[in-house]
Amino acid sequence: MKDIEINIKIRLKMESELNEVERDLVEKAKQATFRSYAPYSNFSVGACLMLENGKTITGSNQENCAYPSGLCAERTTLFYANSRFPDLSVDYIAIAARGTNGEFTKMPISPCGACRQVFIEVFHRQSKPFKVLLYGTEGTYIVDSPLDLMPISFDSSFL
Ligand code: THU
Repeated sequence: MKDIEINIKIRLKMESELNEVERDLVEKAKQATFRSYAPYSNFSVGACLMLENGKTITGSNQENCAYPSGLCAERTTLFYANSRFPDLSVDYIAIAARGTNGEFTKMPISPCGACRQVFIEVFHRQSKPFKVLLYGTEGTYIVDSPLDLMPISFDSSFL
């Protein structure tokens, strides 16, 4: 038997420690939560990504009365960006969420498994990592690559 240890680095920054780009993306992700359509969960998620040319794109979760037909903020935003600008890589994505009380979550929002899988696809598609910023009022987690959020991931090399 052998143990395999995987080390990942998650940076935790207080709001005051965010650099200018990070602060801007987090603020835009927070604003995007107010454009969420979440009448069923009342959990409003916003995302803001930055493309390699500096353009920012925001999106939010879009729910549906047939629940599985809805889509998370992360995938809404990434699919839109990749469909509008297929040749521009993603450098960052920031995510923020407001819970049922309307307040931003204290803990950094944690993307679901399906969104992480899409992050991995984007990573391979552009052959370049991108930073993921997960906002919470008590701190923002920052990882340098989607691989840090999903080690041992499935990718097209298995097909
Ligand atoms: N949701 C997101 O948009 N992103 C996440 O990272 C977690 C969950 C959405 C899906 C659904 O509309 C609502 O939040 C509650 O799960």
